[in-house]
Amino acid sequence: MNYDEAFRMSIDEPERFWGEVAEGLDWHRKWDQVLDFTDPPHYRWFVGGELNTCYNALDRHCENGRGDQIALIYDSPVTGGTIEKFTYSEIRHRVARFAGALRDQGVEKGDTVVIYMPMIPEALVAMFACARIGAIHSVVFGGFAPKELAIRIDDAKPKVIVSASCGIEGKKIIPYHPLLDQAIDIAEWKPDHVIMYQRPEVTSDMVEGRDLDWNEVVDAAEPADCVPVKATDPLYILYTSGTTGIPKGVVRDNGGHAVALLWTMKHIYGIEPGDIWWTASDVGWVVGHSYIIYAPLLLGATTVMYEGKPIGTPDAGAFWRVISEHGVKVMFTAPTAFRAIKREDPEGEFMSKYDLSKFETLFLAGERTDPDTYFWATKLLGVPVYDHWWQTETAWAITGNFRDLTTFEVKPGSATMPVPGYDVHILDPDGKELPRGQEGIIGVKLPLPPGCFTGLWQNEKRYIESYMDPFPGYYFTGDGGYIDEDGYVFVMGRVDDVINVAGHRLSTGAMEEIISHHPDVAECAVVGAHDKLKGQVPIGFVVLKKGATTPEEEILTDLVQRVRGEVGPIACFKQAAFVDRLPKTRSGKVLRGTIRKIADGANYSTPSTIDDPTSLDEIEDAVGTIGYGKED
Ligand code: COA
Ligand code: AMP
Repeated sequence: MNYDEAFRMSIDEPERFWGEVAEGLDWHRKWDQVLDFTDPPHYRWFVGGELNTCYNALDRHCENGRGDQIALIYDSPVTGGTIEKFTYSEIRHRVARFAGALRDQGVEKGDTVVIYMPMIPEALVAMFACARIGAIHSVVFGGFAPKELAIRIDDAKPKVIVSASCGIEGKKIIPYHPLLDQAIDIAEWKPDHVIMYQRPEVTSDMVEGRDLDWNEVVDAAEPADCVPVKATDPLYILYTSGTTGIPKGVVRDNGGHAVALLWTMKHIYGIEPGDIWWTASDVGWVVGHSYIIYAPLLLGATTVMYEGKPIGTPDAGAFWRVISEHGVKVMFTAPTAFRAIKREDPEGEFMSKYDLSKFETLFLAGERTDPDTYFWATKLLGVPVYDHWWQTETAWAITGNFRDLTTFEVKPGSATMPVPGYDVHILDPDGKELPRGQEGIIGVKLPLPPGCFTGLWQNEKRYIESYMDPFPGYYFTGDGGYIDEDGYVFVMGRVDDVINVAGHRLSTGAMEEIISHHPDVAECAVVGAHDKLKGQVPIGFVVLKKGATTPEEEILTDLVQRVRGEVGPIACFKQAAFVDRLPKTRSGKVLRGTIRKIADGANYSTPSTIDDPTSLDEIEDAVGTIGYGKED
C-alpha cells in the first residue's frame, strides 16, 4: 500500500484499516466493533475486545520463538559504562515476578501505581508488571520537584509507588528517596507502600512499615500471569503540562494503543522484528513510554535504554558510540540533543571513531526541527533525517515521513505529511478552514485514530473544555501552523501558554503562579523565548509591589530557586526582567503573545485592544537588558 491508499483508507474506512492491523496482535477476546461512534466526542476503539498489552509485548514473542532474542539493551555510561542485555524470556520472568510482588502488596486490576524512576531496566519491568496485572501506571519524570510529584500522587491516588534510590544526571547523583518523602508529605493521598530499588550508588533509608525493598519483595513473590483487560481499559496515565499549574492526566487505553504502536514501527520507522532500535529520551515522557518501552517490544524488536546524555557522558561522541556498539538501525531523539552535540563538536570529529554502517535513519520530535539542525545532522550522518510531530495526548506521530508506505522528499522545517489516521486541518479562530499556505490553529477532525488519549484522568470537564469544545468536531492540538500547496504540514509552535524547553513540555502558567506568590511581586508574565540550545527557555517579566525594598538581584535569585524547587530543575527558569507594568488589553488581559514576540525579536504589531501602547517600549528595553530580542 502506498501513502495515498493508506491515508484514504484510514480516513474513509477506519474500521477496515485498523481492524486489519489489530489482527497482528493476540486477543483474549476479539472485539465486537472496531470503532464505537455512538457517543461523540468520545470514540472507543475495539469495543468488546480483551487483550493484555504485556502478553503481546513479551509472552507472545517468547511463545513464538523469540525468547532468546535480546529485548532490552541497557547502556549506562553514568555508572562506569554498564552494558546489560536481557532476552525476552529474562524480561518476561522479571516482569512476572515483579507483577507478583505488586499483587502481594494488594495491587489489583484497575488500581493505580506511580513509578518515579530513572532510566534503569527496573523502570521497564515496573511498567510492564502493571500492564500484566491490569494495574494502571503513572510514570513521573525524575527531573520534577517534590511538589509536582505530589500533585500527581494526589490526582492518581496510587496504592503503591515504585521508585529507586537515585537518579544519575551526568556526573551528579540525585537521591530520589528524600524527594519522594517530601512529595508524600505534601500530598494528601498516602500510598500503602513504596517499593524502593536500591542502586549501588546510594542506599536510601527506609520508612518502617511503608517502604519495601525491591529485591526482597521480588524474592518473596510468585510470578503473576497476564490478566486479560478490556481494550478500552486504561493502560496508563501520563501527566503533561497544560496552561495552568495543574497538569493534565492523559489516559491511554490498552487495545487502541497496542494496535497503533504496532503499525507505526513498520510503516513510519521501517523496523522489523529483531531490528535494533534506540530512542534517546526518558521513560518519564510520552516518547519514552511509546518508543523506549511499548512499541519496540510489541513488535519484537530490541530496544536500547540509554542512561546518559548526548554530551558529557563522556563526550560529544556518546550517540555515535551507542549506535555503533549496538548496531542501531533507527534512532529517535529530540533536536535539542543534536544542537548540544553540534555546539561541542561542530565538525562532527568524534564520529570518525565509530562504525555507523548499520545506521539507516534518524527521527526527531519533541519540538520543531529547525532547518540548521536538519542540515547539520543530515550532512554529518549521511542518512535520512525525519522530523515528525506529536504530543503526549496522541502517543504517536500526527504528521511525519515514512520508511515504508511512501517516502517523501524532506522540506526542512516541515514535519511532512499527516500520518494515516489523522485528518489534519488548519482553522481560523472561528473554526473555519483556512486555505493552503495560511497559518492558523491545527485541528484534527474527529475521530482520532486508535492509541490517542481517551480522556483526562477523572476530569471529563477539562477534557471536553480543553480539547473538544474550542472547535466542535475537531481535536484542538494547541499547536499552530500551516499546510503548504503540496500538503506538507509546518508546525510553528504552541498557540497557548505551553512552552517547550529542551524537548520538555512546561507550563508558563505554573511558573507565573509560583513567581506571583513571592511577597514582593505584584504581578508577572512568563513567556518562552527562543534559545539556541534548548529551543525555548522561560523568561519572566516581573512587576514589584510598591514599596518593595529587597534588591532586584536578590529577588531574582529567590524566584529562580522557587521555580527550581517547585517545578524542578528542568524548568530552566534563570532570567527575569523587572518592569513597572505589563502590557495589557483594556479589559486587563496581559498581552503575552506580544511580549513573546518582543522577546524573540520578531516583528509584531501593536494590538488594537492595548490599553497603553507605551507599555511595550518598556518591555523592549527590558528584553534588551537581559540579552534577548535579537534574532540570531
Ligand atoms: N532527574 C533530575 N534532574 C534532571 C533530570 C532528571 N531525570 N533531567 C534533567 N535534570 C536536570 C539537569 O541535571 C539540569 O540541572 P541543573 O540546572 O542543576 O544543571 C536541569 O534539569 C536541566 O536539564 P536539561 O534541560 O536536560 O539541560 P542540560 O543542560 O543538563 O542538558 C541537553 C542539555 C540538550 C543535553 C539535554 O536537555 C538533553 O539531552 N535533551 C534531550 C531531551 C529529550 O530527550 N527530550 C525528550 C523528548 S523526545
Ligand atoms: P509533548 O506532549 O511533551 O510530547 O509535547 C508536545 C508538543 O511538543 C507539541 O504540542 C508541539 O508543540 C511540540 N512538538 C513535538 N514535536 C514537534 C515537532 N516535530 N514539530 C513541532 N513541534 C513539536
